[in-house]
Amino acid sequence: MARLLLRGFDIRKGYLDGAAQTQLIDVLRPILKSAPLFHPTTPSGKQMSVRMTSAGGLGWVSDKAGYRYQDTHPKGAAWPAIPDVILQMWKDLCSPDRDPDCCLINYYGEGARMGLHQDKDEADFSWPVLSVSLGDDALFRIGNTTRSGKTESIWLNSGDVVIMGGPARLAYHGIDRIRFGSSRLLPKGGRINLTLRVAT
Ligand code: SIN
Ligand code: MN
Repeated sequence: MARLLLRGFDIRKGYLDGAAQTQLIDVLRPILKSAPLFHPTTPSGKQMSVRMTSAGGLGWVSDKAGYRYQDTHPKGAAWPAIPDVILQMWKDLCSPDRDPDCCLINYYGEGARMGLHQDKDEADFSWPVLSVSLGDDALFRIGNTTRSGKTESIWLNSGDVVIMGGPARLAYHGIDRIRFGSSRLLPKGGRINLTLRVAT
């Protein structure tokens, strides 16, 4: 496992081996069944190309009313619990003292991307955000704490983990594109990104 520090982003290449990646997909399957992926829209009404859902006490949603965490899926049901194997990664890499409220699940199909943004809907930025990449390769762009200035990009592969804490916690970041079909982890291709967040 190689460790890379890029502008405070703590990148663990190959943190999860193939068996661990498959185990995560297996525990995600029932979650996606009970809390189906949906296409969020931005507050300005544009549909995002990524599909999303969440596990945990709170899930992240976006629609015309704005970006926020809420305790139910847009269809009304409570979110499923965050599986123990995922909580264990948070305990090992971030903190044994407090569990995350939210495991946001982003699915990138062919052509999906995510524009540069900050994660700032949480109440306390002293907690890191833990990101787990599964499936197709993705070009991750890292910027600054303001929208301007030079950016750097790095390919994230299946099994890579990124800890966004400290100076990286409020840095702009996004996914320019994925290499659809580059991984065989997901039977239909695409990429799943999990982000674990303390929201309250
Ligand atoms: C995110 O910023 O919420 C997702 C980043 C990623 O897909 O790697
Ligand atoms: Mn983000």
